[in-house]
Amino acid sequence: MCGIVGYIGPKEKKEILLDGLQELEYRGYDSAGIAIIEGKKLSNFKAIGKLQNLREKTKAYESEGFGISIGHTRWATHGKPTELNAHPHLGTYSYVVHNGIIENYQILKEELQSDGVTFLSQTDTETIVHLFEKFYNKTDDAFPSFEKTIDKLEGAYATLLITEAAIDTIFFAKNGSPMLIGFDKDEVYFASSDTPIIGKATEVYYLEDGEYGYAKDGKVTLFNAKGERSFTKQALTANKVLAQKDGYRFFMEKEIYEQSRVMSETMMGRVLDSSIALDELDANFFDGISAIKICACGTSYHSALTSAYLFERISKVRCDIEIASEFRYKEPLLTKDTLFITISQSGETADTLEALKMAKSAGLKSLSICNVDNSSIVRESDAAILTRAGIEKGVASTKAFATQTMVLWILALYIGQEKKTISKEVLHREINAMLHTPKALMVTDMLHAKLNRLSKRYLHGHGFFFIGRDIFFPLALEGALKLKEISYMHAEGYPAGEMKHGPIALADAELFTIALMPKTMHYEKIKSNVEELSARDTTICAISPLPFDLADDFIQTKYDSHPMLEFFEMMVVTQLLALEISVRLGNDVDMPRNLAKSVTVE
Ligand code: G6P
Repeated sequence: MCGIVGYIGPKEKKEILLDGLQELEYRGYDSAGIAIIEGKKLSNFKAIGKLQNLREKTKAYESEGFGISIGHTRWATHGKPTELNAHPHLGTYSYVVHNGIIENYQILKEELQSDGVTFLSQTDTETIVHLFEKFYNKTDDAFPSFEKTIDKLEGAYATLLITEAAIDTIFFAKNGSPMLIGFDKDEVYFASSDTPIIGKATEVYYLEDGEYGYAKDGKVTLFNAKGERSFTKQALTANKVLAQKDGYRFFMEKEIYEQSRVMSETMMGRVLDSSIALDELDANFFDGISAIKICACGTSYHSALTSAYLFERISKVRCDIEIASEFRYKEPLLTKDTLFITISQSGETADTLEALKMAKSAGLKSLSICNVDNSSIVRESDAAILTRAGIEKGVASTKAFATQTMVLWILALYIGQEKKTISKEVLHREINAMLHTPKALMVTDMLHAKLNRLSKRYLHGHGFFFIGRDIFFPLALEGALKLKEISYMHAEGYPAGEMKHGPIALADAELFTIALMPKTMHYEKIKSNVEELSARDTTICAISPLPFDLADDFIQTKYDSHPMLEFFEMMVVTQLLALEISVRLGNDVDMPRNLAKSVTVE
């Protein structure tokens, strides 16, 4: 996830920016940069990789006296992690940093290019600085030019702009991406979250969507659509770890809440109005491919299992899924008409990486779905699609699973579109559902409070069965995995129709069943499976949009127009249930015992 820092004042700016960016490191990034204007002196440094590289590059530089400055850590979304794509982006005499995504950047870019502007990077951000200069060149008036620029932008942004045309001012705007302003006497700080300014600023103002303005002479002038407005500063917390969690109790909780937003980023530029675009793949990428094999571990394996239903049902391509550690030693028969896909949050999981190497040496074409660009798995693959979830800190994976599943769904549609195996109607229906997923992933206070209340009833017993059918079976596996990872209680995911072939022998009041009962997929079938368990006195917690009388506990979901919307909404319920149970048991939610976030050994 990208990070922003800005400072206006007399202190050493390089250190303020670099220290601030360091505080944002935990969010993940693949390049960084700073720009400083002191009087007529403009300095700019960028480096790919760790901040240490930027520190090396700026070693000989020291800022002196009053000046304006902006810095950025970039997590690649549009364009590779290169120095040219790193922020700040330069026009002719201005610099800009930006978090978020400018949705209409293609149109803006084409307009600017037809005016003769040359773009250096592949980013959406660069349009901001060129737009500003285009307006300024006509008017010689910096703030109105910035206002006009902001007016043109569609999408999510938090942005800072500095220019030689106003050497004592930082221009800012926020819409959909977080940004705040810190104050200490006559100095003004900017940041995308409060960690960079803790210990530096004493007061803070958290910008609202649609707010923009400028900082000058230690003062901030603030506007929104209604005009200039006053604002009230508040005291700044002194606790950095608390601040990193953005007010949530745990990283896992924060990441569950983030899912709605990151899902929009996963879809950005890929899910279009009536088609799917995957710029990561060459036009002939699927030539000669008639089957898919996917290898992964843990949660990533569960997203793979979900996708097998989608590839066969939507794309009409045969799809096999294998646990990477099993695949490696089974002496698999591999044929070159098979696309080998690996899925990994970290891109470093040893078993998945080795499976990929095996497939490559057998001559298979490879594709990775990964959250970390430049990771070993991405580097080793012929092509990669990034999930854009941002860094995931909770060991129990949540938003990585959600975004992996979305990328796989997008890929299933894309293959269908390219191979012409799906009709326009189906494509339209699926895209429409995709665009609704951010809503289905929203956590409401009511839902969270309900799961918190309900969790107290599930702290004992001799085990949990999460049951579901079709894509809700891998979701059941994932729900059970979440629960066992952080509650340390025994939980299994099972295909609902299989319960009668063995597990039902365990049924009694102390067996807890979490039943995933979507309306859009085999409802009557799963209902009778659950009834069989209820008849044997099993304690049932049903999750469904349809009321179900036999449930001991019932969580009513809202979205019932498409299986994937039901899938994502139910996924959030299972994640929050696991979280609340773990909290009640007093466990370490973010770092559960015996587990590691990235497993780089066999
Ligand atoms: C570890 C993590 C899991 C993760 C699995 C695969 O076991 O604790 O959360 O699902 O590795 O990791 P990957 O990075 O390849 O998705």
